[in-house]
Amino acid sequence: MTVNGKKRTAEISPDDFLLETLRSLGFKSVKRGCDTGSCGLCTVLVEGKPVLSCSYLSARADGHEVTTIEGAGEEAKKVASALVGEGVEQCGFCSPGLVLSILGMKKELGKGATDDQIKNYLNGNLCRCTGYEGQLRGIRQYLEV
Ligand code: FES
Ligand code: FES
Repeated sequence: MTVNGKKRTAEISPDDFLLETLRSLGFKSVKRGCDTGSCGLCTVLVEGKPVLSCSYLSARADGHEVTTIEGAGEEAKKVASALVGEGVEQCGFCSPGLVLSILGMKKELGKGATDDQIKNYLNGNLCRCTGYEGQLRGIRQYLEV
């Protein structure tokens, strides 16, 4: 697979999940939370679309382009500064997954997304530190809604 623009190979078992494979390759920004596909902390992009790496078999990523927060570049910085501007960085544990989901959201929903669409898209991205209103304000600002 390609991770953040570079070809990477890994020895995997058929039942390995991408979360563990990426972390074993040194991408420690990919966080482990629930490990059951419920919290969104482990989100990465595969071909630009958010996936939960704790429940995505590593073998499925073979031959595909995977992006972690390290590879998300300037666009991720713009999302982060919109969120920080609304005071929602707090512990930051959820941030890599959240930022990647927002990048996927921009691609899929584009500018002009409604609050309901945004909330629906982020369904499953949990944050223990905020009430989500600040995140919503930051996302609106980033999407120029
Ligand atoms: S660790 Fe993957 S969804 Fe929670
Ligand atoms: S900022 Fe702490 S979990 Fe989201």
